[in-house]
Amino acid sequence: MDWEEGSVPWGDGRDDLSRRDVLKRSFGAVAFVCSFDLATQARPAKRTAAAIRAQAGSPFQPFRAELQVPPTLLPERRTRSLERYVLDMREGTAEVLHGMQTPVLGYDGLFPGPTIRARRGVKTEIRQVNAAGRALNVHLHGGVTRPDSDGHPHDFIPPGDSRTYHYDNVQHAATLWYHDHAHGETSQTLFAGLAGFYLLSDDLESGLELPQDEYDVPLMIQDRSFNADGSFRYVLDLDRGFRGDTLLVNGQVAPRMRVEQRLYRLRFLNASNARAYKLRLGNGRPMLQIGSDGGLLPKPIARTEIPMEPAERVDVLVDFSDFGRGSKLVLQNVGGEASTTAVMRFDVVRGGAEEARVPKRLQPAAKLPPVNAERTFPLTFHGLGSARWEISERVFGMDRVDVRPRRGTTELWTFVNNSTRMHPMHLHGYHFRVVSTNGRFPHPADRGWKDTVAVHPNQSVTVRPYFDYFGGRYVFHCHAAEHGDMSMMGQMEVVA
Ligand code: C2O
Ligand code: CU
Ligand code: CU
Repeated sequence: MDWEEGSVPWGDGRDDLSRRDVLKRSFGAVAFVCSFDLATQARPAKRTAAAIRAQAGSPFQPFRAELQVPPTLLPERRTRSLERYVLDMREGTAEVLHGMQTPVLGYDGLFPGPTIRARRGVKTEIRQVNAAGRALNVHLHGGVTRPDSDGHPHDFIPPGDSRTYHYDNVQHAATLWYHDHAHGETSQTLFAGLAGFYLLSDDLESGLELPQDEYDVPLMIQDRSFNADGSFRYVLDLDRGFRGDTLLVNGQVAPRMRVEQRLYRLRFLNASNARAYKLRLGNGRPMLQIGSDGGLLPKPIARTEIPMEPAERVDVLVDFSDFGRGSKLVLQNVGGEASTTAVMRFDVVRGGAEEARVPKRLQPAAKLPPVNAERTFPLTFHGLGSARWEISERVFGMDRVDVRPRRGTTELWTFVNNSTRMHPMHLHGYHFRVVSTNGRFPHPADRGWKDTVAVHPNQSVTVRPYFDYFGGRYVFHCHAAEHGDMSMMGQMEVVA
């Protein structure tokens, strides 16, 4: 379902309502607008989810489920310069809670979707078949992608149709992910399960002898709530964004993972609608961060706490040979509420032959062309009449271009957060360096290539995007899915 600027269904022009009232009213309206609502498919049940949670040995008990790693998708055809894949976007079920089936919307019906492994210099083609009964499109998040394959909100795949996305894989190795970008409905489709990893490698990365195969583990962190029959329960909160009471890693409730006494590469992705995390190993032992959104950092950085806003990726190395056999290390979410403090657990099971090592240097920082323009984007909540989130006092306009950067240049973009919520601001098609946060240097781990940056209340964050590679129309937006949907998104056209 599409809605356009000005046609937001609950905007009645009245301006004498408190924000609280407006938000309350918008709940009902949104439930009506979003035709796809897994909660409504739930059978009425006698026991509440809270009652199930309280039970000992309940499916919500952390560290009960074994970590699952999403399957790697096999190409349908492969040549030296091209790999061809097919994916079906459709309904399926997943055993998220032990012994229960949760209806999901997934790539090949899976939650999370299968992992695509791509290599720099080898193109990828993915035919996406829309068997989901609703308009969808696919965005490769963090991908340097031509505009017509980027999943722009004006491109969608009608139900029953398919579309082939072309990825040139011109950029450096990075942890990317693909997800739905249906206009105004991403909070629903992402929540329903449409997300998967896209791991891009290159020669530089391979030369570093980092942990590989089963020692290179993608970990998708999300929060969900449930109905008593095991179905996902979505409650709209346009202000904060969705907050679930249960943490999932790769679709399992706070799972445990058996690890050998050796070095691992863990690739964290925050694929939650709106929840931020602060990751900490139980014993406060530092993790070595080697990569962020756009790929490898210049050198590893030891961190005891790693904040992750929606859509951000963090690659770390953890050496489990530092721990005795039988050690159990909890990965915590510092500052989470009671049921969202435990993310997962690592159970050290036996010695592993050590082949991987920690490189001293990773990837040199690229030189940037000079700054060609400076822009400021105030971020605000508009609570009167019709509740909405705005960039530069505008909601998204499909046919309006907000900025026209020149291809081959860099610019300075300053996001000024004048609201009470955090906004993970994201650019399609390009990467940026974080220049400063409230005038100060960013954390060293945030000085590599990024595509999403946290802008906290009262913060002003300056980033320096580099408009390299392709030109054309792309969007930039807040990645708190509810904010992006309503309608914290702008459009840029990168011109020659
Ligand atoms: Cu994950 Cu428009 O983004
Ligand atoms: Cu993106
Ligand atoms: Cu936001």
